[in-house]
Amino acid sequence: MIEVPMIKLNNGVEMPQEGLGVLDAGSFDEVKQAVLDAFSTGYRMIDTAQAYDNESAVGAAISESGLSREDIFITTKVWISNYGYQVAKDSVEKSLQDLQTDYIDLVLLHQPYGDYYGAYQALEELYKAGKIRAIGVANFMPDRYVDLVQYSDVTPAVNQVETHVFDQEWNLRKYMDRHNTQIESWGPFAEGRHDFFKNEILKRIGQKYEKTGPQVALRYLTQNGVVIIPKSVHKERMAENLNIWDFKLDEEDLKEIRGLDTGNTLFFSPHDPETVEMFARFVKTGHFEFRENDD
Ligand SMILES: NC(=O)c1ccc[n+]([C@@H]2O[C@H](COP(=O)([O-])OP(=O)(O)OC[C@H]3O[C@@H](n4cnc5c(N)ncnc54)[C@H](OP(=O)(O)O)[C@@H]3O)[C@@H](O)[C@H]2O)c1
Repeated sequence: MIEVPMIKLNNGVEMPQEGLGVLDAGSFDEVKQAVLDAFSTGYRMIDTAQAYDNESAVGAAISESGLSREDIFITTKVWISNYGYQVAKDSVEKSLQDLQTDYIDLVLLHQPYGDYYGAYQALEELYKAGKIRAIGVANFMPDRYVDLVQYSDVTPAVNQVETHVFDQEWNLRKYMDRHNTQIESWGPFAEGRHDFFKNEILKRIGQKYEKTGPQVALRYLTQNGVVIIPKSVHKERMAENLNIWDFKLDEEDLKEIRGLDTGNTLFFSPHDPETVEMFARFVKTGHFEFRENDD
């Protein structure tokens, strides 16, 4: 069984450096099967969210897996429509029920919009009450991240942001390092955008180590201290994505891959007023749509 290294967060809690993401992983049965497949492949961390509408499938898989609760690390995220102190608090109680657990390892605020301060206060209370082992945020760019750090009691343990070889987030990391907030990548394959899976540089570097392009990209992130949660519903890809801990990219490889960074999002910028409106529309209508970047 592959040993995934543990990363110590700023509150002392240990988190596996690799897990499985389950955004858009299908129906209840498909998500449950994906999580069971992940556990049998060696994954011990699952990244879900209230907005993915699959916490109960994750909970069912955990309960069926026979694994000890303390051997599994569960992350969920509070959605914007559940922001504000009381609604956020109630929503985490519902997540606890759906996940069939007494505590959640990591709870993040999913987006930096609306009454996220009220929601963060609810997380702080649940953290202090022992219902959550670590709290953090997602998609908080430097300005909002620094603001939250300045005006809250508990420094976010994790900030989960779009991070892949084409958008490496070095500027954000500079600020997060000051407060020892762990970076976690969403979209480690950029969901295939920008011809990710055909990238010749990643492929060529992989040939040196008998690894694939996706494996090289994941290893690059982890060698740079990033926590990764690649998503797949295919067991052979789950195994491929986990099989990255037995090789090391050399200095030249690291330099070359660093050169792929564009410093720009391939999805949407949390700074863009259009993004703020897009999420507000989503909260109101339940229908998600965004403009693709030209690439
Ligand atoms: N906080 C946030 O706002 C946020 C936003 C997005 C995502 N996330 C989290 O981050 C996780 C990962 O990001 P993501 O799902 O957006 O994208 P991703 O992991 O970059 O890409 C997933 C895509 O790559 C395919 N894939 C996986 N492994 C592959 C391989 N070895 N070779 C070829 N194709 C492969 C998957 O297909 P198959 O499934 O068909 O194999 C899927 O289409 C999510 O599941 C979610 O938990 C968080």
